[in-house]
Amino acid sequence: MTRDKHTIKFTKPILSNKEGLQLSTPEIVAKYIARRLKTDIIADLGCGIGGQVIFFARECKKVYAVERNPEKLEYAKENCRLYDVDNVEFILGDALSPEIKEKVSDADIIFSDPARPLSEKERSLENLEPSIPEIIKIYSDVTPELAFHAPPQMPPERIVLGCEREYLSLNGQLNRLTLYLGSLKSCDRSAVVLPGGERLGSLDAPGIRKSPICDYLYEPEPSVVKAKLLNELSHNLAKENKDVFFYKGDDRRTLLTSSTLIDSDFFKDSYRAIANTENDMTKLKEILKSQKAKNVVLRFDIDPKQYWEIRTRLEEGLAGTRTLHVFGFGNELIVCEKI
Ligand SMILES: C[S@@+](CC[C@H](N)C(=O)[O-])C[C@H]1O[C@@H](n2cnc3c(N)ncnc32)[C@H](O)[C@@H]1O
Repeated sequence: MTRDKHTIKFTKPILSNKEGLQLSTPEIVAKYIARRLKTDIIADLGCGIGGQVIFFARECKKVYAVERNPEKLEYAKENCRLYDVDNVEFILGDALSPEIKEKVSDADIIFSDPARPLSEKERSLENLEPSIPEIIKIYSDVTPELAFHAPPQMPPERIVLGCEREYLSLNGQLNRLTLYLGSLKSCDRSAVVLPGGERLGSLDAPGIRKSPICDYLYEPEPSVVKAKLLNELSHNLAKENKDVFFYKGDDRRTLLTSSTLIDSDFFKDSYRAIANTENDMTKLKEILKSQKAKNVVLRFDIDPKQYWEIRTRLEEGLAGTRTLHVFGFGNELIVCEKI
């Protein structure tokens, strides 16, 4: 297993330098993307150490793996050997050059997972390497079927491509934004949840209704929030007689609520609501004591340096057994317990 932070990135001992491994796509994500882009011939422009190429090779008849860094291209070759795939043509060179375009001109789909430059004033599609607008300009006459990874935190207004924007979360964390052009586009916005593989697409769904706090609270998957698909989520759940409402949300977290316990693949976590109160630490402490809390997880914006100081103060003198979560929105604190 090759680990990167909390993710098991690869199930085989992939070969790479540190940077190549950091930039590589985790295996489970690469498998999902390869299935979605399954075709006869695909070109991966800027393939790095081949994290994505391996899985394209399993789904497609032929893969062009283009990389300008010779060391990384050698790793990509080794890694394809490790995973027993032999339908890849490795090409060293600049993906934006006429020679490379000529070499991959029979591709049905052009894909790129460009790197972010180490220093950039403003995150934009132009600044990525290779640049997404440049690839579109150069390769649109090879095929209109283009797909790109882009930084998931990039503001949507900077993506003016008429493409599908697919946000993907992995183990409850936002992992990827993929842009699909041409007939690869299936809707405007979509959300995918891995490892389960569930997918939600945008449609003209009626707006999610707001509600005061009910018995249960849910944090939707970050990909659903980022793709602005709360209307679609509540609409789909309502069709199964599961009524879920919007309770509170800000840039960092969103809470939905319902009066009966609902199960959905698009909920990251579910909670039983216990109490809500104004933002007053003495009142909060009383609630925590009366609810027999032991540990308190703080779920509001707080200076990371102060997190443990406040948490220790709140936990001082608590003699219970429960772990309670405290969400904060403006002047309101919400105490709940994870289900
Ligand atoms: C984010 S990495 C790709 C990682 C890859 N998807 C993986 O899973 O291993 C982007 C790669 O694009 C390469 N690159 C950047 N500009 C390029 C260009 N103009 N031509 C070819 N490769 C380029 C970089 O060297 C880098 O290895």
